[in-house]
Formats: sequence, C-alpha cells, structure tokens
Amino acid sequence: MSNDLTITRGFPAELRSDVAVLYDAAFGPKLAIAIPDSARRLKILEAAIDPAYSFVALSGQKVLGVAGFKTPSGAFTSGIRPQLLRERLGLLGALRATLILALFERELSPRELLMDGISVSPGARGGGVGTKLLEELKLFAAREGFRTIRLDVINTNDGARRLYERLGFIPTKTSHFRYLQWLLGFSAATTLEYGIQPAA
Ligand SMILES: CC(C)(COP(=O)(O)OP(=O)(O)OC[C@H]1O[C@@H](n2cnc3c(N)ncnc32)[C@H](O)[C@@H]1OP(=O)(O)O)[C@@H](O)C(=O)NCCC(=O)NCCS
Repeated sequence: MSNDLTITRGFPAELRSDVAVLYDAAFGPKLAIAIPDSARRLKILEAAIDPAYSFVALSGQKVLGVAGFKTPSGAFTSGIRPQLLRERLGLLGALRATLILALFERELSPRELLMDGISVSPGARGGGVGTKLLEELKLFAAREGFRTIRLDVINTNDGARRLYERLGFIPTKTSHFRYLQWLLGFSAATTLEYGIQPAA
C-alpha cells in the first residue's frame, strides 16, 4: 500500500472529475444499461456525485479509491435526478435512464447506512485500500449512531464478497433476477450486513 495514503471524508472540487472516472471504472457497465454513452455518463456523474456522502483514499492528489454511501439525509449518487438527465440526455434518453435506474433503487431502514458503491483504482487493488475505506466507513457509521451497514454484491463478484465477509459483513439474503439477466448482466445479488456495536 502507498505510504502516504490518507482517507478523507469527501474531496475537493478539483478532484470531482477523477472521482467520477474512478466510480465509472467500477460501475460504468451497470450504469451503461441506463446511460449507454460513456462521455455523457461521466459528465452526469461528475455533476451529480455528492462528496459529503463519500470517503476517498488519496495518495497526494491522486485518487486511489472511493466509497459512496446513502443515509436518510442523502446519497453519493442521489444527484442523478430526472431534471439533470433531461438536460443531458433529452426527454427520451432521460425517460429510459429514469426507468432503468429505478430498478437499482434501494430503500433504507431506520438507522441503516447503505453502501452506494466502492471502487479502487485497478493499479491499487489488492493493496489494502478497499479495506481502509470500509474500516473508515464503519467508524463513521458508529460515530453517527447507525446500527447497520448494508450492501449488495452481485453473484459474479466473488472477490468483493470475500473482502466484505473478511471485514465482518454477514450475508442476509440473496435476490434472484432470472428474468432480468438479459438486461442487468447478472442473475442474483446477495445482501450483506455489518452490525455496529453500540458505544459502551
Ligand atoms: C472490491 C474492491 C473495492 C476491493 O478493494 P481493494 O483495495 O482491492 O481491497 P483490499 O486490497 O483491501 O482487499 C483485497 C481483497 O479484495 C478482494 N478483491 C476484489 N477484487 C479484487 C481485485 N481486482 N484485486 C485484488 N483484490 C480484489 C479480494 O477478496 C481481496 O481479498 P483476498 O486477498 O482475501 O482475496 C476493488 O477490488 C475494486 O474496486 N473492484 C472493482 C469494483 C467492485 O467490484 N466494487 C465492489 C462492488 S460490490
């Protein structure tokens, strides 16, 4: 792992584009179902992401990782709203994107923090950056009084699932999407939850 790695809540405006590119490197294929044009998708992400709902891993000014999250007050990607989509994609493109993105929408239970995507730069993977981001998120969730951290991992992503389980996330349910596999590219996803110990 990089010696000068720092984890910060949020990021400065000048790193917005780098963070969007990193997020798109991991979640672009999924978002492409809704927004196929990669240049427009990146611009939408750049405009929509909310730093307040993220932790980033920095080596100097280089972004090595980002972990987005969702709470009852907002989410990393909640800025991807119909109006922004209409401005960038036109009426039909926005309609298509809104309908497809609704399939990915997940509701929150009270005092639950939901992961809204974690991505580590391909060259830095396997070096502990993802672990550090998740550990920081756990500390944050505990400080803020959340009871659980929830995330979903698709059935083809064994590596990420191993990491979550190593960090104490427990599988709670698996959802099957057999009839949507042609659209989503995966046929099942497992929900994992991390239970936060209340402070003594
Ligand atoms: C999953 C991910 C965030 C982990 O970050 P990381 O910095 O590589 O993780 P760490 O170095 O802290 O931990 C390594 C663990 O991550 C897992 N992992 C997942 N994908 C990996 C990859 N491409 N390279 C290395 N490790 C990977 C492995 O299980 C590894 O644990 P192991 O050594 O016990 O096998 C990162 O690999 C990534 O961005 N992957 C692509 C996007 C993604 O899948 N996001 C999660 C969606 S639910």
